Amino acid sequence: MNPVRIAPSVLSADFATLGEEVRAIDAAGADWIHIDVMDGHFVPNISMGPAIVKAIRPHTKKPFDVHLMIAPVDAYLDAFAEAGADTLTVHVEAGPHIHRSLQHVKSLGKRAGVVLCPGTPAKALDYLLDLADLVLVMSVNPGFGGQSFIENQLKKIEAIRRMIDQTGRAIDLEVDGGVDAHWAARCIAAGADALVAGTSVFRGGPAGYAANIAALRGG
Ligand code: DX5
Ligand code: ZN
Repeated sequence: MNPVRIAPSVLSADFATLGEEVRAIDAAGADWIHIDVMDGHFVPNISMGPAIVKAIRPHTKKPFDVHLMIAPVDAYLDAFAEAGADTLTVHVEAGPHIHRSLQHVKSLGKRAGVVLCPGTPAKALDYLLDLADLVLVMSVNPGFGGQSFIENQLKKIEAIRRMIDQTGRAIDLEVDGGVDAHWAARCIAAGADALVAGTSVFRGGPAGYAANIAALRGG
């Protein structure tokens, strides 16, 4: 298991000053920058595209963890790679050919992430883990920040931790949605080693970011 990485979701940042917000979470100890891409089709909300990723890229050297909630997704992978993504994470539910999408990400030289919605079983990963650098477990239904953590996803995290350990590879196991200090501890106990957090990191403005991030690590 890797050390715990914290990935603040800029979906909860002030979009009018996004570059400054990214610098602030970098300075506050973020390990990765989580970027939520939503299309109003796969999920019922629209957020940002490759132009925004490119615009914030010069503001930090931290890895960009790009969560693609879009369908179709394959046609946009190159654009997000060129915009500066380090990990491209694709939903198994977003199309008929997740295996092909992960192959495509690898062919771009990027880290490949695979993500499961709350209703999708761990078993969906059976023939995908050999292509994955990261597995993301959604602990809310994707589309919005500020939702409540769905507790039964902890069992899925435990199951996927066992699957990852069997591979002998250090595949990242990330959780996204409703993660505050309480749920962070439960996710880590279940085997997660990367945590996305929007609301709980950006709460209170820049003066609080470092303490908010530290709280997710357990204080
Ligand atoms: C939800 C997004 C999340 C979201 C997390 O669809 O994938 O990354 O921004 O926000 P909080 O931490 O507020 O649940
Ligand atoms: Zn996300």
